[in-house]
Amino acid sequence: MHAIIAGSGLVGALTAFALKQVGIESTLYDQVDLVNAAMKSGGGPVVVEFGESGGCVLLACSALRVLRTLGLLDEVMAASSPSQYTTWFKINGTSRIALDAVKVSADCGETDPALRAPVQIMRSKLHSIFIQAYCDGVIAQFADGTTAVGDFLVGADGIHSATRRAIFGESTKAEFTGVIGHIGVVKTKEHGIDLKETLAFYIDREKKQMAWAFKVTEELGAVQVMTFNDPIPVEGEEYRPYSDLPKESTRLADMMASWGVPKHVEEMMRKSFRISPAAIYDLKDLPTFHKGRVVLLGDSAHGMVPNAGLGLLTGIEDVGVLLELFRHYQDEKDIPTVFNLYSKLRVPRGHNASLRSREMAKQYYTGSSGIGHFKLRVGIFLFNHNLMKYHNVYDCPAEVNAAITATL
Ligand SMILES: Cc1cc2nc3c(=O)[nH]c(=O)nc-3n(C[C@H](O)[C@H](O)[C@H](O)COP(=O)(O)OP(=O)(O)OC[C@H]3O[C@@H](n4cnc5c(N)ncnc54)[C@H](O)[C@@H]3O)c2cc1C
Ligand SMILES: *[C@@H]1O[C@H](CO)[C@@H](O)[C@H](O)[C@H]1NC(C)=O
Ligand SMILES: *[C@@H]1O[C@H](CO)[C@@H](O)[C@H](O)[C@H]1NC(C)=O
Repeated sequence: MHAIIAGSGLVGALTAFALKQVGIESTLYDQVDLVNAAMKSGGGPVVVEFGESGGCVLLACSALRVLRTLGLLDEVMAASSPSQYTTWFKINGTSRIALDAVKVSADCGETDPALRAPVQIMRSKLHSIFIQAYCDGVIAQFADGTTAVGDFLVGADGIHSATRRAIFGESTKAEFTGVIGHIGVVKTKEHGIDLKETLAFYIDREKKQMAWAFKVTEELGAVQVMTFNDPIPVEGEEYRPYSDLPKESTRLADMMASWGVPKHVEEMMRKSFRISPAAIYDLKDLPTFHKGRVVLLGDSAHGMVPNAGLGLLTGIEDVGVLLELFRHYQDEKDIPTVFNLYSKLRVPRGHNASLRSREMAKQYYTGSSGIGHFKLRVGIFLFNHNLMKYHNVYDCPAEVNAAITATL
């Protein structure tokens, strides 16, 4: 079988690699000019340089399990750093609340201690691991876009997916939330910035101001500031870094200073060597993730607000499920069965993640400073003490086996 994949972002690239494990070759398309990159290789292996863009992402155990299945875990682990605690503060760095993510993962059923700590990794680094795994030793086929023939089409073209709009209509367009994120990447060690927390959120609920700080490695940090009423970047150009760096970093750092964020967080933005804007969109829940020979994975199926750190995790689970389904059903005539089961498994999970992300955004953006923060403290207390489940570990092979058994 042969697949056509629209979108070679994180999920598209990983899908190509996963399908290869079950003997399905793919042709990857993207908006960026892949043909040129392939031509320039002069017949050698194609290594597509997508450039440094974006900030860092957090991956929890359900996604790490898929990477383990695909044999990519060690490489991802080596390029990332674990984050035991997720912390929340008032905007000025007081009133710390901490979630013990390692304990919570164990309570939620993660049996492998190595996977309990979520990891933080640069988005661009993760992308190059996925792309290079797929291209390893062979020349990736990047078609010129005129003709494409495949047994099925994977829409992995992100939250603004043209594939999704083509099969389900323009009413499935993503909606702008009014929030713009600005993501800076900074050489913390070089600038003497000491990060005590690996992952910290600073929130002023009343003024709807928020800053996030990540420790990515001993050398690198990422900082993200969320604002309302900033100019909207061009759709699809969210992760393209600003060219006028000193102007942007000064503007954003000065703004953060006026909010009263801790000095080191402001410094992270001021000293950033790259800043990318990300307009925050949300997507209405889709009743199904496939139609005919077309299947949606990642943000194209369930783009969500980034507040719970679940977007990519959910997309990587999609890849894990599709892989396990194709292990069971290897014939082209089984494609309808594969896609039906895929939707059956992934739609509720996708909706759940979108809902949790919306609820987290609501918790950040509503309520008074005192009461909102207190409610968050109570919630985190319940999770830390296993009085409420923070998440449930999703094991793709087990989920797929159960779904197949149910059809027999
Ligand atoms: C600020 C921010 C922070 C985030 N933090 C986290 C986090 O900590 N943890 C987490 O799990 N998730 C996080 N997410 C979500 C995560 O980034 C996304 O879920 C993830 O990038 C989705 O991957 P994707 O491959 O589906 O889509 P994308 O990464 O959007 O990739 C889509 C690809 O498709 C291409 N494309 C678009 N249109 C077309 C077309 N018509 N034809 C061909 N190609 C096309 C694009 O060029 C792109 O390469 C965050 C998101 C944001 C905005
Ligand atoms: C931090 O902010 C809180 C809430 O606005 C305020 O009560 C507190 O006094 C501030 N603390 C410092 C050290 O600025
Ligand atoms: C959805 O989330 C709720 C609460 O976290 C959980 O009880 C339920 O099992 C989840 N459903 C799926 C399909 O993951």
